[in-house]
Order: sequence, then structure tokens, then C-alpha cells
Amino acid sequence: MKLLLLTCLLGAASLSSATTLFVASYAGTVASLSLTENGGSYSLNQTFVSNDCAPNPSWLTLDANRGLLFCLNEGLETVNGSLSSFKVNRDGSLVHVQNTTTISGPVSGVIYGAPAGGRAIALAHYTGSALSSWHLNGGGNFSSNQNIVFALKQTGPVADRQEAPHEHEAILDPTGRYLLVPDLGADLVRVFSYDDALMLQELNPLQAEPGDGPRHAAFYNPYGVACEGCTTFLYVVNELGSTVKGYAVTYEANGGGLSFEQVYNSSTYGYLSTPEGNAPSEIQVSPDNRFLIVGNRNDSSVTVPNLDPTNSTQIQSDTISTFALNQDGSLNFVQLAPAYGSFPRQFSTNAVGNLLAVGLQQSSEVVILRRDITTGLIGQPIASISIEGQITCVLFNEEHALGTLGG
Ligand SMILES: *[C@@H]1O[C@H](CO)[C@@H](O)[C@H](O)[C@H]1NC(C)=O
Ligand SMILES: *[C@@H]1O[C@H](CO)[C@@H](O)[C@H](O)[C@H]1NC(C)=O
Ligand SMILES: *[C@@H]1O[C@H](CO)[C@@H](O)[C@H](O)[C@H]1NC(C)=O
Ligand SMILES: *[C@@H]1O[C@H](CO)[C@@H](O)[C@H](O)[C@H]1NC(C)=O
Ligand SMILES: *[C@@H]1O[C@H](CO)[C@@H](O)[C@H](O)[C@H]1NC(C)=O
Ligand SMILES: *[C@@H]1O[C@H](CO)[C@@H](O)[C@H](O)[C@H]1NC(C)=O
Ligand SMILES: *[C@@H]1O[C@H](CO)[C@@H](O)[C@H](O)[C@H]1NC(C)=O
Repeated sequence: MKLLLLTCLLGAASLSSATTLFVASYAGTVASLSLTENGGSYSLNQTFVSNDCAPNPSWLTLDANRGLLFCLNEGLETVNGSLSSFKVNRDGSLVHVQNTTTISGPVSGVIYGAPAGGRAIALAHYTGSALSSWHLNGGGNFSSNQNIVFALKQTGPVADRQEAPHEHEAILDPTGRYLLVPDLGADLVRVFSYDDALMLQELNPLQAEPGDGPRHAAFYNPYGVACEGCTTFLYVVNELGSTVKGYAVTYEANGGGLSFEQVYNSSTYGYLSTPEGNAPSEIQVSPDNRFLIVGNRNDSSVTVPNLDPTNSTQIQSDTISTFALNQDGSLNFVQLAPAYGSFPRQFSTNAVGNLLAVGLQQSSEVVILRRDITTGLIGQPIASISIEGQITCVLFNEEHALGTLGG
């Protein structure tokens, strides 16, 4: 009897240490998923679901060290969006802490400030043409710090998408001293510094080419060391131009900003042209610091088996591009891998980098793909789950090195 009880307890302990992921859906939910392995086969199951970031969760920002998850509600049919926070329990379930109304259309957030001191979260607002900042208290509560609304006359040549500034992401540079915000509408990557009170100040931006439509960006330090004098590159994925561009980054003296020199440009297919209608989404440097991974939406260029093994109908899949990173900032195209569905809006690796979780917006699926950390090649699905609504973000509940985690 005692032995049986002990076995049960051990069973429970190993269950609670399963790998957890968090997934957001425009249908209103943020959910916890459990990825488990048994004898070489994997299962992905939903273990918890919350409606506290409703109606339209668009993005998740994880603070794994403090066990906090921030969720943005884009508010697709409301004037305003909102910011919600959750505490992450050991079993992967979430406890809602706070929900606050924001400027409209938040789609990405990043935490900045001193690792052990005052910190804030900055949000990029797509429809609101704005950046907002919120002080964090460390326990999941937050309070308004700053709202910056950009001049609406900043536009680009693509009439239906560039009629106003559209902030699409907020990321930190590798030193943590600057915040960068790709602006799809204004063909800019905006650059901000911040003071001890975490107030953001706009500096000279990176000027993209007219019609690029910069969506997301990722930094790369080829020698693995981040500092102001260190070799640093920035890669920008352009949604409207369907390109990836690389820039050598120079730090100005005394926190004066960043300057950029273009060193690479190609379609997101490398040497080939992308199909008409391709709309690239996410961009990330792999945890091993050797590969750049880029999502392609609406290219439908490969045929793959259905994720549902009982369904023999093959599907036309969108893709994920992998490039090898070179120390001079240039890229070599490595692979066009199936995403196993439609609209890979966002993806993230686990901390090791041997698994890639993909949020398939139009397929309403999360799929976990194998990834070979030596070759960079993305492989077969090991598990998947259908989630109601359009998937917008999926993350592993793991701490990643600074700069490598876009999602
Ligand atoms: C977990 O998901 C797998 C498919 O990935 C399914 O076969 C299994 O029944 C699920 N388990 C539970 C407890 O829901
Ligand atoms: C959070 O705030 C938004 C925007 O004000 C609101 O639409 C939503 O209902 C709120 N959610 C909750 C769970 O209170
Ligand atoms: C955190 O926010 C919640 C919801 O607004 C509030 O009830 C709670 O008192 C706050 N806690 C702290 C420590 O500010
Ligand atoms: C609601 O959104 C509008 C448009 O972005 C903005 O002007 C207003 O300040 C927002 N309200 C709040 C409480 O954030
Ligand atoms: C960048 O690459 C794209 C795709 O190959 C090409 O269409 C475009 O002309 C290039 N831009 C410049 C300025 O070279
Ligand atoms: C997808 O691409 C087709 C062209 O192949 C285009 O007509 C359509 O507007 C695109 N859809 C979206 C949502 O971008
Ligand atoms: C099988 O997959 C196809 C393509 O995704 C889908 O249109 C069809 O509804 C599926 N059939 C069943 C029975 O689920």
C-alpha cells in the first residue's frame, strides 16, 4: 500500500514537470499546453484555459525567471486593447493578476530596464500607431508609465497598409540599452533609449526602403558577445516587400543611438522569388546563434500530409525559411520547410533549440516540429493540437537568452 502511494506521488511529480507551452488565440483564450513524451511518442494536451485576456489575445510576453506571463488583447472590434498579467503556477496553470485598458491594437511587448531593479513592459500598438510603457511591480501588477503616439502623416506607398504608422513589434538590442520598434506603416525601425525612470526617448530610426513594411526584427552577435563595441547585426523581416534585410549596427558614443548599414538583402526564399501574396511574419535567431528562422504566410508552396492522421487528404502548407548566419552578416539560404498548415504567424523554439512550436493562425493548430541544432534543418511534426480560433502566439515556458526570443 505504501509502495503504491509512493508510485502515485512520483507519477504526479513527473507529470507536473512536463514541458509547458502557452498559446494565445483571437477567439479569446490564453491556454497552457503540456508536451509529454512516452517511449518516443509525444502528446500535446491542453491543461488550462483562461478568458481573462479576452476578447482577442494577440501576443504573449513571458518573464520565466519571475513566473509571470503578460498577454495583450488586440481588441479587434473594440476601440481599445488591453494588457493582462498572470502568475504561472508550477503545474503550468495561470492565475490572473490584472487587466488594464490600453491604446488600441497592441500586438507585441517586451520587458526592459534593470534585471534586478526597476522594470517596465513596452507595447507596440498597430492600429493605435503608438508605443506604450507600463511600470512593473515584480509581482505581476503594472501601472501606466508613458504613451507615445506617432505623427499620423508618417506613411508609405502601399495605400491599404501604409496609410499611417503601424508599430508591429518591440524588441531589445543585445545590450538591453535600446528598444527597437519595426513600423510597418511608416517604413521605419524606430529606436528608443530610456532613462533611470524608464521613460522612453525616440532617437534616429533605421529608414527602410519605401514599401518594405518592416514587421519583426532580430539581433545577431556573430562572436556570441554583446557590447557596444562588439560586432552586431540586425535582421528585419519585411512583410510587404517579402524580404529579409541585414544591417551592420554601430553604437554611437554616450548612448546617442544606433546607426545602420545594409549588408544583406534577399527575398525570404533566398535566391528565389517568393510567390505572389507571400506575407512573411516572424524572424528569430536560433538559440545556438548560427541560424536565422523566418515564417512565410500565404505562400502555400508545399504539399504535406494532414496533421490529423485519420485524414488522408493532403494539405497545401505555408513554409518556414532557414538561413545560415555568417560572421560578416551575410546569409546563406538553407531550407524551405513545411509549416504543416496555413499562416505560421509566430513561432518559438525551446531553450535548447531542438523543437520549434508554430502557431498556425488559419489552421487553428499548434504544431511542434523537430529541429536539428547542428544542421539547422526543420523536420517532421512530433505533436499538434487544434485550438479554437486563429492562433496568434505560442511560447515554451522556458527562459531564453536575451535577444533570441521574439515571441
Ligand atoms: C493528449 O493528446 C493526445 C494526442 O496528442 C491524445 O491521444 C490523448 O488522448 C490526450 N490525452 C488526454 C489526457 O487528453
Ligand atoms: C480587459 O480590458 C479590456 C479593455 O478595456 C476589456 O475589453 C476586457 O473585457 C477586460 N477583460 C477582463 C477580463 O476584465
Ligand atoms: C494588483 O492588481 C489587482 C487588480 O487590479 C489588485 O486587486 C491588487 O490589489 C494589485 N496588487 C498590488 C500589489 O498592487
Ligand atoms: C483608447 O484608444 C484610443 C485610441 O488608440 C486612445 O486614444 C485612448 O487613449 C485609449 N484609452 C485608454 C484608456 O487607453
Ligand atoms: C532586395 O531584394 C529583393 C528580393 O530579391 C529585390 O526585389 C529588391 O530589388 C532588393 N532591393 C535592393 C535595394 O537591392
Ligand atoms: C494570398 O495570396 C493571394 C495571391 O496568391 C492574394 O490574392 C491574397 O490576397 C493573399 N491573401 C492574404 C490574406 O494576404
Ligand atoms: C480532411 O482535411 C481536409 C484538408 O484540411 C479538410 O478540408 C477536411 O474537412 C478534412 N476531413 C475531415 C473528415 O476532417
